[in-house]
Amino acid sequence: MFEEIEQIEGKDTDISAILTRSIKNIIYILALGERPNDPHAPDVLEEYDNALNDLSRAEVDYLLGYLPFVANIPGRIKTTVQRVKRAKKGADEMMLYGPKRTHIPGQPRGITDLLLDYQKKPGYEFMDEDETHLIGFLTTLFMAAHLTTRSTLTGMFLCLVNYPEVTKKIQQEIDSVLQGQQPRMEHKRKMPYTEAAILDTLRLTSVAPISSFRRASEDLDFEGMTIPKNTMIFINNWHIQHDEKLWEQPWRFNPDHFLDSEGNLLPVEHQIRKNSLPFGIGARACPGEIFARSRVFLFVTSILQRYDLLPPANEKMTPANFKIHDEHIQGLVRQTPPYKCRLVRRKTFYN
Ligand code: HEM
Repeated sequence: MFEEIEQIEGKDTDISAILTRSIKNIIYILALGERPNDPHAPDVLEEYDNALNDLSRAEVDYLLGYLPFVANIPGRIKTTVQRVKRAKKGADEMMLYGPKRTHIPGQPRGITDLLLDYQKKPGYEFMDEDETHLIGFLTTLFMAAHLTTRSTLTGMFLCLVNYPEVTKKIQQEIDSVLQGQQPRMEHKRKMPYTEAAILDTLRLTSVAPISSFRRASEDLDFEGMTIPKNTMIFINNWHIQHDEKLWEQPWRFNPDHFLDSEGNLLPVEHQIRKNSLPFGIGARACPGEIFARSRVFLFVTSILQRYDLLPPANEKMTPANFKIHDEHIQGLVRQTPPYKCRLVRRKTFYN
């Protein structure tokens, strides 16, 4: 990543491509257990995720659910469906069929190999009989991990370029805690301000605005309403995380939301922490929370340790306005609007 940043140092740049490339590689390694031989191999994952996300926009999903023949009428929806089908072939090959050809039972390299081992265990025959279970699992994992982490990171850098006073405080914390060392996870608990900035990014951007669905297993009485058995229930994370009754400045990036008056991070059991549910709640909560939060911490601290983040020199700065809804950012996972910024090497960092 830093080799790429060197190339664009000081120039107006959309850094999302650089961040995305690193995230795709990390997720590729998580699933397959090794670095890609071809550096462009993980690109198929991005194309598939973007196409699926486009197809999962509420109005498209709704239309196709009720009028599936619309997928055959020339126009935007047909083009997107065809794009998904094309990308799926490449993604299935990369996620499953490629690793399967070199899989050695009992020697898992990554998550795909683990699934291939499980397929042969008693109780998991359904996975052996029907491979779409494996494909479904891997697709969910890739999409859930890649688009969310990418959007959170690009969203955080958009916030930071718009709130230079926050960036400065994070850099002060980096300098005093790391003392020039490479950031590691054990530094995280000594950096409450950085942690609070990450938590407020997760709240403000709310990249997964709606939770996975649940089904009521029995009639429920909820605040005077009856929710009949079998009703589908979604949690509206977007509303909770921007609710004016819960947040002093719901649309403003403000790490202080998660700090006490002495600058300590509010404990997880504090009501304010409970009011933010970026990773959902309960049995279906996001299994990637620790992984995602650790990646965001490492990306942000290692970049800000080396570089100052500045607005673009030749164009207007995109505001950190996450209230907007347009077709470029909508989908199951909300994306950050495109923007440019500059990374300029810090004079105080000599590594
Ligand atoms: C900042 C990044 C991320 C955010 C904001 C996020 C958020 C969420 C949310 C809100 C849900 C639904 C939870 C619920 O319904 O209660 C979810 C589900 C899920 N996430 Fe994440 N996620 C992120 C990163 C990841 C990563 C890195 C992985 C994998 C390594 C991952 C894997 C999953 C999976 C597999 C599910 C589905 C779980 C199920 O349906 O049982 N996520 N995520």
